[in-house]
Amino acid sequence: MTTRTSFPRLTSPGRIGPMETPNRIVLPAMDMNVSEDGEIEQSEIDHYVARAKGGAGLIITGACAIAFPVGAASLKEPGLSDDQLLPLRGRELL
Ligand SMILES: Cc1cc2nc3c(=O)[nH]c(=O)nc-3n(C[C@H](O)[C@H](O)[C@H](O)COP(=O)(O)O)c2cc1C
Repeated sequence: MTTRTSFPRLTSPGRIGPMETPNRIVLPAMDMNVSEDGEIEQSEIDHYVARAKGGAGLIITGACAIAFPVGAASLKEPGLSDDQLLPLRGRELL
């Protein structure tokens, strides 16, 4: 049995239009459903920070409501329609 231990194509830089990524590892959008009343929770931030530190080349966040709660698929979805929903705004995440 052959075991692959390196993935030169996957780990090589990628490009999507004008955007360059350090590798081709992409975290697809996956809603976490941990927000309360649209407020982004620390656990959600920790989740994305861990993936960024782990080396994901591109992170697509889960669904966010731009006019919370209007348009939200779930009331556990983060809202981006009001600064009050971003309690950690202005803080460095990494
Ligand atoms: C648990 C879970 C949550 C997801 N949440 C979102 C989401 O918030 N927004 C979105 O656009 N897609 C969401 N998706 C869809 C995934 O991004 C999509 O399935 C993934 O990109 C794989 O693409 P495929 O279904 O074409 O294989 C979710 C998928 C899963 C499994």
